[in-house]
Amino acid sequence: MKTFAELNFPGRLVAVEGLDGSGKSTQIYLLKRWLELQGMKVYFSEWNSSELVKSATSKGKKRELLTPTTFSLIHATDFADRYERHLVPLLRAGYLVLCDRYIFTAFARDVVRGCPPEWVRGLYSFAALPDLTFFFKSDLEVSLQRILDGRPQLKYFEAGMDLRLSTDLYESFRIFQGRILEQYLAMSTEFNFLVVDANELVEKQQEVVRELVAQNVNLASFRRAERLPARPTPAPQPKAVKPEEPAE
Ligand SMILES: Nc1ncnc2c1ncn2[C@@H]1O[C@H](COP(=O)(O)OP(=O)(O)O)[C@@H](O)[C@H]1O
Ligand SMILES: [Mg+2]
Repeated sequence: MKTFAELNFPGRLVAVEGLDGSGKSTQIYLLKRWLELQGMKVYFSEWNSSELVKSATSKGKKRELLTPTTFSLIHATDFADRYERHLVPLLRAGYLVLCDRYIFTAFARDVVRGCPPEWVRGLYSFAALPDLTFFFKSDLEVSLQRILDGRPQLKYFEAGMDLRLSTDLYESFRIFQGRILEQYLAMSTEFNFLVVDANELVEKQQEVVRELVAQNVNLASFRRAERLPARPTPAPQPKAVKPEEPAE
């Protein structure tokens, strides 16, 4: 598998990965704003956001119709739709593409749900690798607490309740997310994850993220072309003082 840079795309793709509640969305949002304020061509895309499969995903989740295989395929379709219609065209057009989760989310989650690892990887073999992948490594308890600080209850699927690991939502979350963490850690070296200590303060992590992006991406090449200054209106010329024409 090659990165977009290795495939000679003019654009670059930066992905964030990590447990639910690790702070990925917060960090990628701050990165996006920082880049936009510098006048960069930036495009943001989020896991599980394709219009194409939205209703099927929501129906499947609500009615608990999804098996590990259909769960995986529906997410792969969601990704393929965004990949082909948005990510690739914008990377061809020289954009800096920011992805909130990429194929590693499927590699980790679907395997924990019981899909064979080679099968999951094969599903996503059409996709190139990100040029940079940040892994926000948070302790299980830290991410759990952050989620609970933001809303009253864990979500059924983020707690992995479909796996029947425990009847207790919190216990299920710990077991499920713990297994996902193991998968991420196992992939970390293979896919050159840039590991960020996600237990740290938001600002401290953002500093690290910005520095690593600046070191690894030629940011100057992503600046929007300066808009040509409006043609200057010619300064009023002093009227030549003509001798008065004799009235006709
Ligand atoms: N470093 C941090 N310290 C404390 N709270 C954080 C930190 N980063 C994010 N949060 C908060 O934790 C919650 C989950 O963050 P979010 O960025 O949505 O995580 P993710 O996208 O990884 O699920 C949000 O309420 C967010 O404001
Ligand atoms: Mg998020």
